[in-house]
Amino acid sequence: MARLHALLSADEQARAARFLSPVHRDRYAVAHGRLREILAERLEVAPEDLQFGQAEHGKPHLAGSHARSGLQFNLSHSGDRGLVGWAEHLHLGVDIELWRPLGDEAALVRRFFSPAENAAYVALPEPERTQGFFECWTRKEAYIKAVGRGLGLPLDSFDVSFGPGRKAALLRPSAEVQGDRGWSLAAPSLGQGVSAAVILEADACHVLPEVLE
Ligand SMILES: CC(C)(COP(=O)(O)OP(=O)(O)OC[C@H]1O[C@@H](n2cnc3c(N)ncnc32)[C@H](O)[C@@H]1OP(=O)(O)O)[C@@H](O)C(=O)NCCC(=O)NCCS
Repeated sequence: MARLHALLSADEQARAARFLSPVHRDRYAVAHGRLREILAERLEVAPEDLQFGQAEHGKPHLAGSHARSGLQFNLSHSGDRGLVGWAEHLHLGVDIELWRPLGDEAALVRRFFSPAENAAYVALPEPERTQGFFECWTRKEAYIKAVGRGLGLPLDSFDVSFGPGRKAALLRPSAEVQGDRGWSLAAPSLGQGVSAAVILEADACHVLPEVLE
C-alpha cells in the first residue's frame, strides 16, 4: 500500500488525503497507483513520471511527454473492486459496480434507461432484475465514459443489451455522438454480485481480467 501511495503525484496525494475514511483513501491510492503501474509498463517508463490531464468533461488522459503516445485508458472503482482498461489509439470506457441496494431500482430504470431497456428490464423475472439493472448500468456508464461526455450525454439516447443469454452489445449508439467508428462491448465475469463492462472503439473487444490489490 505504501508503495502505491508513493507513486501518486502531489495532486493525487492531496486528493487521497481529502478522504475522511482511511479505507477510501487506500482504495483511491490502490486504484491510481495501479493505474500508473499498468500504463507505465506499456510505455516502459517509471510510474511516478506519468502526468495526467483532463478533457473538457473530465475524462482523464495522459499529458506531458506521453500525451502523444496514443495510449488510452479508463478507470472505474466500486467498493473494493477496481477496473482499468487500456488500448492503443482507440477510445474506450470501463465501468464496474458492486450490486447494492439503490432505493427504488424500478424508478431509476424508468428515469435513466431508454424505452427499449425499460421493456427488457420489466420482461425479466423478478429475481433476475437486480442483475439486469447492474448489467445495463455498467454498459451504459462504460459507453458514456468512452465518448468522454460524462452525464452530459443523455442515458436514454442509446441502447445496450442485457439479460440472461444476451451477448453484451451496444444496440443503438447515441445520435449525439458524431463520427465514431463503431463500438464493441464486453462484459467480463467477475463473480456473483459484481457487474462490469468494457467498451472499445473497434470491431472486437477481448478482456483479460486482472485482480487489483
Ligand atoms: C464521473 C462519471 C463519468 C463516472 O462515475 P462513476 O460511475 O461514479 O465512477 P467510476 O468509478 O466508474 O469512474 C470514475 C473514474 O472515471 C474517470 N472519469 C472521470 N470523469 C470521466 C469522464 N467524463 N469520462 C470518462 N472517465 C471519467 C476517472 O478516472 C474517475 O476516477 P477518479 O474519480 O478516481 O479520478 C459519471 O458518469 C458519473 O458521475 N456517473 C454517475 C452515474 C449515475 O448516476 N448513473 C445512473 C445510471 S442508472
